[in-house]
Amino acid sequence: MDSPLRPTTSLFQILVTFFLLFFLGLKEVESLGINYGQVANNLPPPEKVLQLLHALKITKARIYDTNPQVLTTFANTNIELIVTVENQMLATLCDQQQALQWVTSHIRPYFPATNITGIAVGNEIFTDENMSLMTYLVPAMVSIHTALVKTGLSQYIQVSSPNSLAVLANSYPPSAGSFRTDLNEIMQQFLQFLANYKITFLD
Ligand SMILES: *[C@@H]1O[C@H](CO)[C@@H](O)[C@H](O)[C@H]1NC(C)=O
Ligand SMILES: *[C@@H]1O[C@H](CO)[C@@H](O)[C@H](O)[C@H]1NC(C)=O
Repeated sequence: MDSPLRPTTSLFQILVTFFLLFFLGLKEVESLGINYGQVANNLPPPEKVLQLLHALKITKARIYDTNPQVLTTFANTNIELIVTVENQMLATLCDQQQALQWVTSHIRPYFPATNITGIAVGNEIFTDENMSLMTYLVPAMVSIHTALVKTGLSQYIQVSSPNSLAVLANSYPPSAGSFRTDLNEIMQQFLQFLANYKITFLD
């Protein structure tokens, strides 16, 4: 098989961490989540990844988009999947109607055959160069959550946003941990949202 150019959204790979954990022979692999990166040169097809996950008894995975090919491949398996709203979609999905349409077309058709358990809204947007993304985060999360309620999926699928620890200006000692001051306002909104919907802070 030659390797035709494919759109990056259809690409994914297993992170190095995964192999490290594997070779370290950690026991409780089942409880680990696996992240598929989006950019790679040699990408195994979803079927191969699925085989690998099965072989290693991994049951949780996250993808960095809502690639239909991956969602379809993971149907009727024991894999719990967290999908991601791409950063460039955040502004659009603040709109309630757009969010409903997004959930209806990107999530609804695949659930429950594919066990989508979470929607990560954006990827590490607090550390993205584009600061305007932050202002869209909470509104987009609220819209998507509302869309999940409307489509009857909210009890199965959680909304959150994975954030790197870079948002912590001062993470040691932990008791002194605080968010970067320039992020205070947005983080407050964000944490309020999580509290309102009893959602956990991923990552
Ligand atoms: C930042 O993101 C917003 C919303 O997606 C977009 O409209 C804008 O063009 C982006 N700015 C830059 C500098 O990429
Ligand atoms: C999907 O995952 C959830 C969370 O672990 C679990 O409760 C549920 O039974 C799973 N659904 C299916 C169809 O496997």
